[in-house]
Amino acid sequence: MNKEQGRLKGKVAIITGAASGIGKGTALLFAEEGAKLVLVDRDSERLQTTAAEIRQAGGACETVLGDVSLPETADLAVCTALDAFGGVDVLFNNAGIMPVGDIVDYPLSTWDEVMNVNVRSMFLLSKRAIPEMLKRGGGSIVNTSSVMASLTEPGYSAYTASKAAIIGLTKEIAVSYAEKGIRCNAIAPGWVETDMNVKLAESVGGMDKLYPVIKQQQPLGRMATPREVGYAVLFLASDEASAVTGSCLSVDGAASAAI
Ligand SMILES: NC(=O)c1ccc[n+]([C@@H]2O[C@H](COP(=O)([O-])OP(=O)(O)OC[C@H]3O[C@@H](n4cnc5c(N)ncnc54)[C@H](O)[C@@H]3O)[C@@H](O)[C@H]2O)c1
Repeated sequence: MNKEQGRLKGKVAIITGAASGIGKGTALLFAEEGAKLVLVDRDSERLQTTAAEIRQAGGACETVLGDVSLPETADLAVCTALDAFGGVDVLFNNAGIMPVGDIVDYPLSTWDEVMNVNVRSMFLLSKRAIPEMLKRGGGSIVNTSSVMASLTEPGYSAYTASKAAIIGLTKEIAVSYAEKGIRCNAIAPGWVETDMNVKLAESVGGMDKLYPVIKQQQPLGRMATPREVGYAVLFLASDEASAVTGSCLSVDGAASAAI
């Protein structure tokens, strides 16, 4: 770790879903690259574990416990960034859920929950963070979409709709704020080694059952690690991506290139 020369040196970043998976992997990487972090999640215990790992490695972070689909959480996250670190430069909207089921049996309440956690949260956090980014002369928003925004399979009505909506929201923010110095991009991961897929494996009879599907769908032949996804987020968050906005970067081991 070299915080003096880090790719995010001096930047303040808010990361949602930071207690686990892609959010945690990205948080650890951002801290190594010199960012000061506000970590947001609803899982108190694992959020504190992530924070402890970052502090132990010499990084700076604050935690915000809350449901990202609520405006109070967006407000608290931004206020924490302002109070602790003086502003906001990067927003990684990443928290998401993936309940699966046939559309005919799919409860309306679950549909609403998926839309609220996966999409409304990004609207709320962007809405609250953009004015603060403008005060600093710009910023970078990265939203976690999915390969499933464009390729899907039965049972994913809400998830696929939510991930496609995220790409639309990303483009709108990008065109609205490009001239004002705020960039907004999405990432579209394929299979990633996280709890989300551990839960999916449990529902289909174990990882042994899931792995052949992963190998068949993702030419890379394995899941990506959270850290590998984190490097894509790091690029988009950093000044190296100063001309990249309104894009969606696939991090899917060629899943979206395969037939
Ligand atoms: N794992 C994959 O293969 C994969 C692929 C493509 C996209 N994604 C997306 O990546 C993102 C991160 O998922 P992951 O795989 O790291 O999953 P994960 O389950 O390991 O982590 C998700 C985190 O989000 C938090 N979270 C969920 N709902 C929340 C809420 N309402 N308020 C606050 N925190 C909440 C959870 O507590 C958890 O810590 C999601 O948006 C997911 O859709 C994952």
